[in-house]
Amino acid sequence: MSERFAGKVCLVTGASSGIGRATAIAFGQQGASVIVADMNAQAGEEVAAEIKRNGSDAIFVPVNISQLKDVEHMVSVAVSRFGRLDCAVNNAAISGSVTLPTNEYPEDEWNRVIAVNLTGTWYCVKQVLDQMLKQGCGTIVNVSSAAGLRGHSGNVSYAAAKHGVVGLTKTAALECATKNIRVNAVCPTGIETPMMLDGRRNLRNDPKAYEDAANYQAMKRLGKPQEVADVILWLSSEESTFITGHAMAIDGGAFA
Ligand SMILES: NC(=O)c1ccc[n+]([C@@H]2O[C@H](COP(=O)([O-])OP(=O)(O)OC[C@H]3O[C@@H](n4cnc5c(N)ncnc54)[C@H](O)[C@@H]3O)[C@@H](O)[C@H]2O)c1
Repeated sequence: MSERFAGKVCLVTGASSGIGRATAIAFGQQGASVIVADMNAQAGEEVAAEIKRNGSDAIFVPVNISQLKDVEHMVSVAVSRFGRLDCAVNNAAISGSVTLPTNEYPEDEWNRVIAVNLTGTWYCVKQVLDQMLKQGCGTIVNVSSAAGLRGHSGNVSYAAAKHGVVGLTKTAALECATKNIRVNAVCPTGIETPMMLDGRRNLRNDPKAYEDAANYQAMKRLGKPQEVADVILWLSSEESTFITGHAMAIDGGAFA
């Protein structure tokens, strides 16, 4: 086990699946105590158990990030159990369930996606920052998307929310730049996770859609959750101490 995060307390939302799961397990493998936070309790408990089997401490905390009370509870459980919070990864999100142009996009779906992906991420940043400001240190990585850097036809709520996450990240980064707290975002393109394979675009059952999604990257493949986790851990580590307010594409050359 590497000790890069030994003694650190790291919180990951959306840690029951995909990118969040890979990130939580990677923090554990590198010595951190990990708070695995998600709506999916069964899968989250399994991730926490895996981290413990690998030799690090971990707890699962149930949370719906679109509820401020849940997010307050998540941070207070983390701090009462581990005494502090060094790294927060605000990763939980939903993909939206319809593909429609902006003028036809349903208001209830807009509200649902914004509530989780933008307001929920803000709740997490807000509560985590309260604790980090008290401690006088910390790192935050928000998981935005390539759809936070460019438009995303047919999915206006998701693109608006993910652009919002970039604005939220840069604003918090400026406010905290002299307070020993760094705030960054990652912006992945297509990554092989349940959201990508089984979500709105259902790539698992549509070989043509899968091929199109792979070809979006210059590397002609989807990314792996671990390839995103590696960047998140770097941005959370002592190896990136002069980087804040960044929205880093993880894109297999797509934006090149
Ligand atoms: N997979 C991709 O291609 C891709 C690309 C760009 C950005 N992203 C972003 O990466 C992040 C992780 O996505 P993923 O692909 O691993 O998805 P995923 O669906 O595999 O995992 C998302 C996790 O978030 C949890 N979650 C959803 N809503 C929640 C809520 N309200 N409160 C708490 N937990 C909730 C789910 O239970 C799930 O465990 C998301 O922010 C997503 O927008 C993914």
